[in-house]
Amino acid sequence: MTRHFLDLDRIEAGELHAILRRSAEMKAARQGRPRGAPDDDPCLAGRVVALIFEKPSTRTRVSFEVGIRQLGGEPLVLAGRDLQLGHGEAISDTARVLSRYVDAIMIRTFERAALEELAAHATVPVINGLTNQSHPCQIMADVMTYQEHRGPIAGRKVVWAGDGNNVFNSFVHAAARFGFDLTFSGPETLDPDPAVLAWAEAEGAPVRIERDPARAVAGADLVVTDAWLSMHDPQEARERRHNQLQPYRVDAALMARAKPDALFMHCLPAHRGEEATDEVMDGPHSVIFDEAENRLHAQKGILRWCLGL
Ligand code: CP
Ligand code: NVA
Repeated sequence: MTRHFLDLDRIEAGELHAILRRSAEMKAARQGRPRGAPDDDPCLAGRVVALIFEKPSTRTRVSFEVGIRQLGGEPLVLAGRDLQLGHGEAISDTARVLSRYVDAIMIRTFERAALEELAAHATVPVINGLTNQSHPCQIMADVMTYQEHRGPIAGRKVVWAGDGNNVFNSFVHAAARFGFDLTFSGPETLDPDPAVLAWAEAEGAPVRIERDPARAVAGADLVVTDAWLSMHDPQEARERRHNQLQPYRVDAALMARAKPDALFMHCLPAHRGEEATDEVMDGPHSVIFDEAENRLHAQKGILRWCLGL
């Protein structure tokens, strides 16, 4: 059966732990090596991975491209608008055609349905590189980063401040799979998807909702935020969202309410001064650039898992 990496709720905890163990080993094994040097085990040699982008990207694009090269494979970056896919060709046909040329497909797209359709018709693994609904590769890197700095994330208190968006949804999935405690703190109007919250409840990992950010962050081991407006959100919503989200800005005073050794994460790109202040982004709790680096290592683990390598 083709092993897709679509969302963390679809993959067993043991598999996710194994991916991250592998990722950490690969990271350790290449300490001090030039970024372009191949890994000791170039297991993707002779394989091509298509990277389809229907939205902009810096981290996802560069980390997948470099990671695939380090594994000895060939990345093929494709902009959605340059493909026939962007001009009306069916996703199902695109999936079948690409499956004849490449060994795996990563896609960043809009609706989850497009990702699902691609996966349903592809005969090679499909990896979710962000949809309007989730961003599982990011959260694998985030969990890896937490564990690198502070040990197992299981049982830790993670607090999300801001919009209940796609990145948050993947945090909900991760809370159930990795066994951490998750609190959402944001305005009611930007609450997370009720279906995702219901899933967490059914998994025995209910998400706590605390409207008061100061109370939410008290005793947190990890504080996370994201842009107030995601790529798929209409620009017209900007002013309204800013007004609603202002109380949830992560500043030094809010961070001070977390545990003294708490970490701060942001998937980036950030709008500095909006969802988080420079003082926090560049402060002692922040691990945002380790997080960005770990996209590379975590995704190499994901690619190997998908391809059984
Ligand atoms: N965090 C993240 O996915 O960044 P990009 O949009 O730059 O890929
Ligand atoms: N929530 C953001 C994440 C960007 C990596 C977005 O979807 O635009």
